[in-house]
Amino acid sequence: MYHGELVKLRALEMEDLDIILKHFNNLELRQYLATAWPMSRNAERQWLERATTMNPWKDGEFILAIEDKKTNEFLGSVSLFDISKQHQRAEFGIAIHNPDNLGKGYGTDTTKVMLWVAFHVLGLNTVFLLTLDSNKRAQRAYEKAGFKYAGIFRQGSYMLGKFHDFVIMDVTKDDFMEQFPPGSEVGQP
Ligand SMILES: CC(C)(COP(=O)(O)OP(=O)(O)OC[C@H]1O[C@@H](n2cnc3c(N)ncnc32)[C@H](O)[C@@H]1OP(=O)(O)O)[C@@H](O)C(=O)NCCC(=O)NCCS
Repeated sequence: MYHGELVKLRALEMEDLDIILKHFNNLELRQYLATAWPMSRNAERQWLERATTMNPWKDGEFILAIEDKKTNEFLGSVSLFDISKQHQRAEFGIAIHNPDNLGKGYGTDTTKVMLWVAFHVLGLNTVFLLTLDSNKRAQRAYEKAGFKYAGIFRQGSYMLGKFHDFVIMDVTKDDFMEQFPPGSEVGQP
C-alpha cells in the first residue's frame, strides 16, 4: 500500500497472528517495547482484532504491517498512537520482530514511510517518540529517518530491576516536507 525503498506497509490481517507469535515472546525485543511479559495467543488475537479494524480518527491509533518489498516476508508492525486531532500530533512506535532482520535498514525505511503517512495522508503537524536511552540502534534509525533529539524523560521506564531514562525525539511537518515535499514519495511501488 505505502512503499519505501525496502519495505511496504499494509493493513494487518488476522492471518498475521501466527507469524507475530513466532517472534513476539522474546525478552530482548519486548524490553525495548517496555512490555517484558509473555503475550498469550488470546491476548495477541484480541490486539490484532482491534488493530485490523482501527480508524486513526475514531480510535486515535493506526497500526500497519511491515513487509519486505521484494519477498513479502512479514517483518513487524509500525504505529501512530495517541493521535490528537486538536494538536495534530501523534506518538510513533515500531518493532521489527525477527532478530535476524535487525540492522538491515528496514527500521529506517519503515520510519520514513510512516512519517510520510503521518504528514501527507493524515495531515499531522508533529510526531514524537520515546525510546530507551540504551536503544542506540533505534535512535540512529530514527535520526536517519528525520527525527531530532528533543530531550530526556528521566527514569520514565522501570524494566528488569531498575529505572531507565527515555530519549524523546520529534519531527515536525516543516522538517519532513523539506526532504519530502508534496508530490514526493519515499519509494516507488
Ligand atoms: C529499532 C528498530 C526499528 C531499528 O530498525 P533496524 O532495521 O534494526 O535499524 P536500521 O538498520 O534501519 O538502522 C540501524 C542503525 O543503527 C546503527 N546501530 C546499530 N547498533 C548500534 C549501536 N549499538 N549504537 C549505535 N548505532 C547502532 C546501525 O549501524 C544503523 O546505522 P547506519 O546505517 O548509519 O550504520 C529495530 O531494531 C527494532 O525493531 N528493534 C527491536 C524493537 C525496538 O527497539 N523498537 C523500538 C522501540 S522505541
